[in-house]
Amino acid sequence: MNRRTLTATALAAVCALGLAGCGGSGTSAKSDKPAATTRAPQLKVSGAYMPQPVTDKMAGAFLTVENTGGADKLTSVTSDLSDDVSLHTTKGNAMEHVSSLPVPADGALKLASGGDHIMFMGLKHKPAEGQKVTLELHFAKADAITVQVPVKSATYRPATGGGHGAGSGDMDHMDHSGHARK
Ligand code: CU
Repeated sequence: MNRRTLTATALAAVCALGLAGCGGSGTSAKSDKPAATTRAPQLKVSGAYMPQPVTDKMAGAFLTVENTGGADKLTSVTSDLSDDVSLHTTKGNAMEHVSSLPVPADGALKLASGGDHIMFMGLKHKPAEGQKVTLELHFAKADAITVQVPVKSATYRPATGGGHGAGSGDMDHMDHSGHARK
């Protein structure tokens, strides 16, 4: 909600800049595509981790893509761990494949346990805690970003300093077991 407000404000600011930039062209200041597309995304990845997978059939990874520029989208992920890497979102208790995840302007795409995540199927090997998995994130506009993702314990949760997910009751219910039990 807050973020939506921020994004709207940012877009308005970008629009204003865009229009000012086009001022020389006279009366046709009207643009039919959003001015935000003219602003380059500025992306930075942080907090990446992969809980140690239980089997070699699948794994999930989480990270945050911070953006101090214009809007972008995470469109695909490639990795040496698997040839089948996809983007998933979580709806209720079910995961859904999505073709892209938005990286809002002046915001962040946050992949987190129980929410959006990167899904690896058919692992080439089973990564162990302490190892690293190399990912390449591909975006609609920004250049690809390579990330070395540390493998953590299967029950690892990042320290967020704030309420969510800290309780042990949370542990099992949002893991990837749903995919295993088919
Ligand atoms: Cu998934």
